[in-house]
Amino acid sequence: MSILIRGGEIVTDSKRFVADIFCKGETITAIGPNLTAPEGATVIEAKGKYVFPGFIDPHVHIYLPFMGAFAKDTYETASRAALVGATTTLIEMCCPSRADDPLEAFDLWMSNAVGKSACDFSFHMGVTKFDATTAAKLEEIVARGISSLKVFLAYKGAFGIDDAELYNTLKFAKSHGLIVTAHCENETLVSERCKELLAAGKTDPAQHHESRPPLVEAEGVHHLMTFAELTGAATYIVHLSCAESLHEALRARARGVRVSIETLIQYLVLDKSYAELPNFEGAKFVMSPPLRDVKNQSVLWGGLASGDIDTVATDHAPFDFAKQKSMGAHDFTKIPNGIPSLEERVNLLYSYGVVPGKITLEQMVKTASTNVAKTFDLYPRKGAIAVGSDADLVVFDPDYRGVISAKTQAMNVDYSAFEGWKIQGRASVVTVRGEIAVRDGKFVGSTTHGQFLKRKPSHF
Ligand code: URP
Ligand code: ZN
Ligand code: ZN
Repeated sequence: MSILIRGGEIVTDSKRFVADIFCKGETITAIGPNLTAPEGATVIEAKGKYVFPGFIDPHVHIYLPFMGAFAKDTYETASRAALVGATTTLIEMCCPSRADDPLEAFDLWMSNAVGKSACDFSFHMGVTKFDATTAAKLEEIVARGISSLKVFLAYKGAFGIDDAELYNTLKFAKSHGLIVTAHCENETLVSERCKELLAAGKTDPAQHHESRPPLVEAEGVHHLMTFAELTGAATYIVHLSCAESLHEALRARARGVRVSIETLIQYLVLDKSYAELPNFEGAKFVMSPPLRDVKNQSVLWGGLASGDIDTVATDHAPFDFAKQKSMGAHDFTKIPNGIPSLEERVNLLYSYGVVPGKITLEQMVKTASTNVAKTFDLYPRKGAIAVGSDADLVVFDPDYRGVISAKTQAMNVDYSAFEGWKIQGRASVVTVRGEIAVRDGKFVGSTTHGQFLKRKPSHF
């Protein structure tokens, strides 16, 4: 199959220009003016539209047993939602419990995905324990194509690791060229503050952000930075939410610590007042780190524009409001954490970031695609519009106008945190390795087309 995308304005992380793109099979084979389509090629007229490289979400949960519940999406539903929302590759967190064998966990996460995904995918391998057997097992997982790890400095007694384990994980990563992604919150402070709040009878969803204020996250970042400096490992802070944490990360970066920074679309457009909504509505907005005071939003948008913040992800973790979030009706610590947004990230970035001039189109491509590919060893196969790159392309119609609603979303969850929000622009066509997956907001691809992307470590 071949595709000619004609006359669109191509946007990369550093430039914009009008040209045609020709894709043969799974690959981009020509870019230039007035390309001709061979007989049988599918022609997509893109005049007046942008053409972006496929977007990459570096932080997604699909199979997630967590806080007594299972996240709702399967690969089939999540990958369709990703594609409708212009994301052509996702990286899922493989999160075994401490009792699980890492290799068995990796096999389980793979078995949930292989042959069941419409978009391409990879995993960050969660290290939730580091004992005498861990290094050999991680070596096997790296040999199978994984080049990044995930650690949690939060979730005491569940995914969280202790300092000795953190130190040994980072040393292992440094010697094997891996990058370590980390959830940074001080777990002791979180659990002590939760106990205090509950003892004082404070049980509603808004107490969640009282239990983990900005300093709790900033301390986690500082902690990780100290360990990263001592070991020399490459690190990546997931879901950075506030000015205090950014300050700690940038201080470390300035003294040579190897750190990349991810924020989330939720922190850019939502704030803690949503988690304070009455009648338990706030539970829809409970995630960790929590939504922050609105003043942080300009800091985060500014960080994306300046290049201080490298990537925008979703931390997609869909739990139903009716039957799952409600587990915390009388105790905020039992509300499964997460705000689903895999489908909305790019449209929200465009509508609430590019349109009002907070970031440029190129910065959107950089932070939601190219930087992700570069950081996680996928570039230039992904994250680029270049001859030889995968034909993962987004033809984006800036004239589209729509409204977000749970009634029309592809994500398998019973609410939208953005219900009724207006969007300007959306993908009219999305391709994954040369297959058309989306037309006019509808998934038209195949749910078995997605491939596991083998990655080779580069962060020595
Ligand atoms: O609230 C969140 N972030 N849920 C998913 C798990 C995690 O911490 O990434
Ligand atoms: Zn996390
Ligand atoms: Zn996460």
